[in-house]
Amino acid sequence: MLILGIESSCDETAASVSENGTKILSSVISTQIEEHKKYGGVVPEIASRRHSENILGVVREALDKSGKSLDDMDAVAVTYAPGLIGALLVGVNFAKGLAMAAGKPLVPVHHIAGHIASNYIAHPGLEPPFLCLVASGGHSHIIEVLSHTKFRIVGKTRDDAAGECFDKCARALGFPYPGGVHIDRASALGNPETYNLPVPRVAGSEYDFSFSGLKTAVVNMVHNASQKETTINVNDMAASVQNRISEILVSKTIAASRDLGYKKIVLAGGVSANSGVRSTLEKACAENGFELFMPPLSLCGDNGAMIACQGYFNYMAGITADVSLNAVATMSIEKI
Ligand code: KG4
Ligand code: ZN
Repeated sequence: MLILGIESSCDETAASVSENGTKILSSVISTQIEEHKKYGGVVPEIASRRHSENILGVVREALDKSGKSLDDMDAVAVTYAPGLIGALLVGVNFAKGLAMAAGKPLVPVHHIAGHIASNYIAHPGLEPPFLCLVASGGHSHIIEVLSHTKFRIVGKTRDDAAGECFDKCARALGFPYPGGVHIDRASALGNPETYNLPVPRVAGSEYDFSFSGLKTAVVNMVHNASQKETTINVNDMAASVQNRISEILVSKTIAASRDLGYKKIVLAGGVSANSGVRSTLEKACAENGFELFMPPLSLCGDNGAMIACQGYFNYMAGITADVSLNAVATMSIEKI
């Protein structure tokens, strides 16, 4: 079965053709990072405009590179939630037009389910149920993946997402957007014990996250240092931030796995590219006897292949949409 997957929820216009979900015949990603960098973050209107300009070329290239035509596709899958509404609308409307004109089924895909599905591509033997830590620029969730299309949220962030925290701390340290990868690189040269950053306490749910206090602490330390004309060692601060975020994400995931009886842990989302998160989770899983699955770096960020993959599983489960499909900025993964 051949699925065309389309992604436009944030600042990447992406498309991919997959065979039976996990075999990627092509994957094309057009990133807008260079443009948004000038403003220190994603400017929603610019994102929508670039998606509109790029989407036809990206989809055409994905079809060309796969050696297949639109006619060969069994379905067209598209990210419809969550994300920037204007950005999502470009992909949704494009996919609708394409599916209707070609007489193909239209398959709606939840962006977070797509991130999780990147692991099915990388690990063909991986099957639900498992527990998944999803950490990206917009989301930090611990999710029970009950089946390919059924999810239960165990914990989530009360405020900032982990990727957002990485990016805001990076900005305070003078790195360009998106700063997560710069923190990662600088960390390798720093001492994580240098700065004592707060460990957030989240009242009520032991699996929920909170990252805004950590971000504020870093911003304040940098500000106070500049007021006193002292210096912050950027590499040491980067290492301290990365270490703290990794500890927070991993300790809650391990606790949830133990409590809920999961032996398989999966990592997903843009932050899964972070070397500290990966090594901390690897170590914790080895110590606890858990099996760990992580996406390769090429599938950590937003891409069309993960949407085509999840689109396949949705289609097989009978999840399709008609022309009334709309984009939704905020939607729980439990609702798909
Ligand atoms: O999944 P993604 O591409 O977009 C969303 O769905 O949000 O995630 C992007 C986020 C950004 O915050 C970015 O800084 C972060 O993932 N990120 C990283 C690394 N690579 C990407 N954060 C820390 N370390 C990295 N190596
Ligand atoms: Zn994403």
